Amino acid sequence: MHVLIVLDHPDPGSFSAAAAAAFMTGAKAAGHSTELADLHGEGFDPRWTMADIGADDSTPPPKDVLAEQARIERADALCLVFPLFWWGMPAMTKGWVDRVWTWGWAYDQLDDPEKSLQRSRTGVLLIPAGARSDEMEEEGYTAALETAWTTGTFGYFGFSPRRLELLCGSTGSRPRREALLARCHQIGLNLPDPEG
Ligand SMILES: Cc1cc2nc3c(=O)[nH]c(=O)nc-3n(C[C@H](O)[C@H](O)[C@H](O)COP(=O)(O)O)c2cc1C
Repeated sequence: MHVLIVLDHPDPGSFSAAAAAAFMTGAKAAGHSTELADLHGEGFDPRWTMADIGADDSTPPPKDVLAEQARIERADALCLVFPLFWWGMPAMTKGWVDRVWTWGWAYDQLDDPEKSLQRSRTGVLLIPAGARSDEMEEEGYTAALETAWTTGTFGYFGFSPRRLELLCGSTGSRPRREALLARCHQIGLNLPDPEG
């Protein structure tokens, strides 16, 4: 498969960057080709502007959006890596999602998230989070994120199968972080084929 890894972190020394690298190494070891979209490194502009609003049948989307869509079209599997910020996506990932996965290209059925216009792709979210997994469960954040992202957003994108992996305790001890990175490597190594 061809695997696109979308990384949202400005710091190459971050845990998020290490998680993306570990996943990519695993995917390569399994024989997949890989491509990295380093959103900060490439200077992606997350701001949704009049140029995005104005795109229609006669006016194409902005060039940077078309370039991201072309990357996605090449891929059989996508892995998004971004840190959990205020129980949601950081602004960069949010803007990438808002701008790139457009109505008319990604989806048209607002009432049915399963009716993506995109072909089926394996979708993985690797989400470093400072909180512990028991805190996440008890407060309901894990269930909320599964609903909002796994069922909601990424249903519209045709991700099947979909996997949300919360890398809880990513600010913790070195052994903890190493164990999380080993998990990212394993997920890359054992990527399932797209379904359907
Ligand atoms: C602005 C900001 C908001 C954050 N919000 C949360 C949060 O809501 N829940 C959480 O568990 N961790 C939160 N964190 C912690 C990050 O998820 C954590 O720093 C990150 O996973 C560590 O990885 P990194 O080295 O890639 O930044 C937040 C961190 C920052 C900087």
